[in-house]
Amino acid sequence: MSILVSPSLLSANFLNLKADIEMLNRSQANWLHLDIMDGIFVPNITFGMPVISQIKTATSKPLDVHLMIDKPERYITAFRDAGADILTVHLEGAIHLHRTVRQIKDTGAMAAVAVNPHTSVELLFDILEELDMVLIMSVNPGFGGQKFIERSYDKIKKLSNEINSRSLNVKIQVDGGVDNTNSAKLVQCGANVLVAGNYVFKSPNPEEAIISLKNA
Ligand code: DX5
Ligand code: ZN
Repeated sequence: MSILVSPSLLSANFLNLKADIEMLNRSQANWLHLDIMDGIFVPNITFGMPVISQIKTATSKPLDVHLMIDKPERYITAFRDAGADILTVHLEGAIHLHRTVRQIKDTGAMAAVAVNPHTSVELLFDILEELDMVLIMSVNPGFGGQKFIERSYDKIKKLSNEINSRSLNVKIQVDGGVDNTNSAKLVQCGANVLVAGNYVFKSPNPEEAIISLKNA
């Protein structure tokens, strides 16, 4: 499986978002990662549907929408209508997770579930067949630019072994502190979608940074 790269817009220049989106259009990025925070599930607030629907008009990449919000089932249709192609909800924020995953699939979007650093990935094994992707958080969600948590490698390996032993087609995405110092090891462990905010946008050459992750 080739490596997909999904740059996180959280580290972009919000005063000149269009320029950054156009750079990503020219780049080899596969998806555009949008971090939605509600100030309750995580101690930070970002943006919502009106911003997403405007981004949708400017991007040529699928929108990979990471919902760091409590009770995401309330807003699945609204985020899909705003332009989300991939919708990720957190295991910790959705009580009836199986139902929420079905709800996402009913909209036609790709369905993914994220697990925080403290959450065992085995908690997803009973619904793995239902998922298009699992997101392993390699930092505590809420902010860009944090340090990668080393323990994430073992979680990715465990998940990858389970997916392979059951011959499932579930992608493994990693989000938080991803850069060119850990990308190769992440891929070796089984990750196939890399999210990167700071590493891409703080690089002197973001397009090259994206290529370096794709070649991990
Ligand atoms: C953190 C977000 C990430 C974040 C990644 O809560 O989910 O997507 O933007 O940023 P970096 O790559 O800078 O850790
Ligand atoms: Zn994210």
